[in-house]
Amino acid sequence: MKRIFSGVQPTGNLHLGNYLGAIRNFVALQHDYECIYCVVDLHAITVWQEPAALRAHTREVTAAYLAAGIDPKHSIIFNQSHVSAHAELAWIFNCVVRMGWLSRMTQFKEKAGKHRENASAGLFVYPSLMAADILAYKATHVPVGEDQKQHLELTRDTAQKFNNDYGVDCFPITEPLILGAATRVMSLRDGSKKMSKSDPSDMSRINMTDEADAIAQKIRRATTDPELLPGPAALDEAGRLPEETRKARPEAWNLLGIYAALSDKSWSEVLQEFEGAQFSAFKKALTELAVDKLGPIGAEMKRLQADPEHVDGILRDGAERAAAIAEPILREVQDVVGF
Ligand code: ADP
Ligand code: NA
Repeated sequence: MKRIFSGVQPTGNLHLGNYLGAIRNFVALQHDYECIYCVVDLHAITVWQEPAALRAHTREVTAAYLAAGIDPKHSIIFNQSHVSAHAELAWIFNCVVRMGWLSRMTQFKEKAGKHRENASAGLFVYPSLMAADILAYKATHVPVGEDQKQHLELTRDTAQKFNNDYGVDCFPITEPLILGAATRVMSLRDGSKKMSKSDPSDMSRINMTDEADAIAQKIRRATTDPELLPGPAALDEAGRLPEETRKARPEAWNLLGIYAALSDKSWSEVLQEFEGAQFSAFKKALTELAVDKLGPIGAEMKRLQADPEHVDGILRDGAERAAAIAEPILREVQDVVGF
């Protein structure tokens, strides 16, 4: 059996990176896997969240899942804090993972920044909660953006160490699924930073609920360079984008990558289409495409967010179905540990 687990934090400002790097893939995976999609509120509070905002953002992520096409009858959509197995298994894993493993996590270093002493302990042990999320369902595959690869590696190490320490074959070694052309969507203002919910500049990201005029304005103002767009000769023989080529013009390649992902075209097809074009012409085409693809999703999200009872009902039903899978697995683990 192939089972997927993945999640998105309810921290607001859901953006094109979350859509292309995560949510869109979640939709496609429903055909081939049993899918469990979580709104990870326990993760969100590793940094301060206003309670009312957390509640609203939990519904926002749920609305995004539904609007993008996740079918709640087929897949499970639920809220992490509603299934206590996550927190209980995370505690066991806190006693399995090593301080040294956690200290190497680049996301902790980035998020804690210079004020490490002031970061919550939860932020530090975030990866063992993520391991618990995945392994509470014995998920075999996890679709992740590039930014989460290191955390998934830690999940695999945790499963391995638990199995070794206790001499059992309890947990699977979960495989990452890195999908799609735009696995790492960069900021529209600075091609060296990823597009992020927490970027203070709203112009740096296209939000999933942006209206057509906001999308147009953000793409128009996106950082570019004075050169014309490259042709397919920029790619290697296998049609891939060489890293040095990307690094030389990060903003240009980011916009081209977004175009490729949204249009489901290969790099080579996109470069053929725009070879020698000015950015102004390309940006116009990108705007039309983005409005066409995101517009209906954003509108459906807003409709769902205006009906919180419906959204909460879906989360309640999902939590029951998730708990029915996770609780027997937790009991098995507790038995192994000697509780
Ligand atoms: P954020 O990193 O914006 O706070 P989350 O941590 O909740 O968002 O991530 C939710 C999902 O979206 C993860 O699978 C993550 O890999 C993906 N993701 C986040 N930002 C990007 C991005 N800029 N490009 C591609 N995928 C992204
Ligand atoms: Na992230």
